[in-house]
Amino acid sequence: MELVRAKDYTDMSRKAANIISAQVILHPDTILGLATGDTPKGTYAQLAEWQKKGDCSFARCSSYNLDEYVGLSDDHPQSYHYFMRKYFFDLVDIDIANTHVPDGAADDPAAACEEYDRMVAAAGYPDLQLLGIGRNGHIGFNEPDDHFARGTHVVDLTESTIEANSRLFDSIDDVPRQAMSMGIQTIMLARRILVLASGADKAQAVHDMVFGLITPKVPASILQLHPNCTVIADEAACSLC
Ligand code: PGA
Repeated sequence: MELVRAKDYTDMSRKAANIISAQVILHPDTILGLATGDTPKGTYAQLAEWQKKGDCSFARCSSYNLDEYVGLSDDHPQSYHYFMRKYFFDLVDIDIANTHVPDGAADDPAAACEEYDRMVAAAGYPDLQLLGIGRNGHIGFNEPDDHFARGTHVVDLTESTIEANSRLFDSIDDVPRQAMSMGIQTIMLARRILVLASGADKAQAVHDMVFGLITPKVPASILQLHPNCTVIADEAACSLC
């Protein structure tokens, strides 16, 4: 695992966009693993700018997102389907038919998770997986637990995640209590992983991910075992490292 120290959010976003851009220039048919949240928004915006200028293209890429809330349809403004269209898919030349996000509105979420896992496996797993990290060390919606989850699965969200995400909903009661998330094994099978972190409220999680014990209590700590994982964290997020 390597730690790249960025100055601030803009610097982190540009560094991440540089790596993703280089990846799709070298391998135009890259399978991207994508993340939502505030952290990657700047990276997506930078990539969209470069794509518009003709510096890179996503036309031959496909993508698999990490997670989605259970019970939200894909046109719900807080769904991750909606987020991805707004902040990335609609801004670049990727073919929307080649983008994939777990189906939060599925009648049988557990079966939909299994199907999603089969699809990611059949595609051959992401060449590059982009990740944010939660304040509690979660990746995707893999929350602190006593074991590492394997494939895509339905997760009960912790109170801290519900509270962190409530800023995006009208009230905390509107935050879904469950999500579908790629499992740790699925994430670890990506050939390259890029973790982004910004802000002092991520400093403990970044420290524990990079230097802490490998434990499901800090799901991101397992990334220490990945052969090609880069963390890009800004000064505030690196402040304990
Ligand atoms: P954030 O979320 O980018 O909105 O901080 C990251 C995460 O919880 O994985």
